[in-house]
Amino acid sequence: MIRVAIDGPSGAGKSTVAKRIAKDLSIIYVDTGAMYRCIGLYALRQGLDTKDSQQVSSCLEQIHLETSYDVQNGQRIFLNGEDVSEAIRTPDASMAASNVSAIPQVRAFLLDLQRDMAKKQSLVMDGRDIGTVVIPDAELKIFLTASPESRARRRYLEYVQKGQQPVYDDILRDVILRDHQDSTRAAAPLCQAPDAVKLDTTEINFEDTVSIIKEMILKKAAELSLSI
Ligand code: DC
Repeated sequence: MIRVAIDGPSGAGKSTVAKRIAKDLSIIYVDTGAMYRCIGLYALRQGLDTKDSQQVSSCLEQIHLETSYDVQNGQRIFLNGEDVSEAIRTPDASMAASNVSAIPQVRAFLLDLQRDMAKKQSLVMDGRDIGTVVIPDAELKIFLTASPESRARRRYLEYVQKGQQPVYDDILRDVILRDHQDSTRAAAPLCQAPDAVKLDTTEINFEDTVSIIKEMILKKAAELSLSI
């Protein structure tokens, strides 16, 4: 069994890369950002202030999250039985996720769920604190990053592909704001684990990033005599 932790700022390509690696190696992919997004979405739908820790933490007991994974569809996530895998991808849900993720009770609520998943099987898990908090003993830790401009550009293209009409400057502003919020919050801030390998993809394309990481995984598995 091998557990791969991929952390990094929003838009660095973590989920696209992790999804593809999981598929190629036939292992599970867990997107922890989706879990924070579900809580953000729930709080938005309830009309709560997503920065208010009291309001948000008191709604946690009403939330039941489930995930499913298959190679074809990747991870699907269910909020109280409703498949919200698409609904959590809006700019509002992104900002709400960043807001609720700063609340310690929200992090504690999701930590057990995430650790439980990491006990059972080989996986690639992506997020902000996977290598530092969720699986500190992961066999391989990668910190995936890229310049704010190139991350904003990728997000912009994603929205265009979905038929939306995004404004690049708004996306760049959100990227910079979320970076700041995610890395300066008190609870499990985004930071590189000391034993993580840093990979800056500003100048590296998707296919090359996937190859580099797959090679690292195979090398680590061989080094530790682990089966994947
Ligand atoms: O990866 P993402 O953009 O889907 O994550 C949404 C938000 O959730 C992001 O702003 C930071 C937060 N997050 C976190 O704090 N810890 C994680 N392990 C994953 C995401």
